[in-house]
Amino acid sequence: MSLTFTFDPAVSRDLRDGILDLWTDVSNAGGSVGFVPPVAREDIRPELVRHMVAMAEGRTRLLVGHDEEGRVAATAFLARNTHRLMTHWLWLYTVMVHPRHQGRGYGRDLMAAAADAARELDGIEAIRLTCRGGLGLERFYASCGYKEVGRVPGAIRVAPGDDRDDIMMLLPLL
Ligand SMILES: CC(C)(COP(=O)(O)OP(=O)(O)OC[C@H]1O[C@@H](n2cnc3c(N)ncnc32)[C@H](O)[C@@H]1OP(=O)(O)O)[C@@H](O)C(=O)NCCC(=O)NCCS
Repeated sequence: MSLTFTFDPAVSRDLRDGILDLWTDVSNAGGSVGFVPPVAREDIRPELVRHMVAMAEGRTRLLVGHDEEGRVAATAFLARNTHRLMTHWLWLYTVMVHPRHQGRGYGRDLMAAAADAARELDGIEAIRLTCRGGLGLERFYASCGYKEVGRVPGAIRVAPGDDRDDIMMLLPLL
């Protein structure tokens, strides 16, 4: 089994619904993709709409992975910077693999496909992302070649009394 990755897929209702289901299931399984459980699809929809608007404006590109049954199983959003002095690298957002598929190497495949996609873009020399501390995610990204380049202690309050570090990771592409 493996996932089939598509960069810049045509946006359809099926794709939107598939991403919403993925994002909801990942969040409710405790994934750190912007929400804390419990969440419903309708909580997530406005965030997805923001990504879709950025895609329509050409600032953000979607990388999606489908499983063998055609379900949306993984995503990452590649976002260019608007700052004119920071156009030589991009942000990677909302990296997720469906809980039913986690732990089988698909996350690493997704990150490799994201690096390949970024290399195809004109003038992109690095990928930057942030992740929530306390879950070992920095080890996952390190296993994909990323280096920790910054950490803001306690910047993410997942619940009262549960503050997590905001960790910045970087992958040079050159
Ligand atoms: C993080 C995530 C994308 C990894 O995908 P995955 O398919 O489970 O990961 P892989 O099977 O490719 O694992 C690759 C390596 O990273 C390690 N790893 C994966 N998730 C990890 C985690 N949360 N903490 C520590 N290590 C992790 C694996 O053990 C494996 O290492 P190994 O080769 O030494 O065994 C996936 O677990 C996920 O979607 N999590 C929820 C959403 C989330 O938190 N995303 C991160 C946003 S910043």
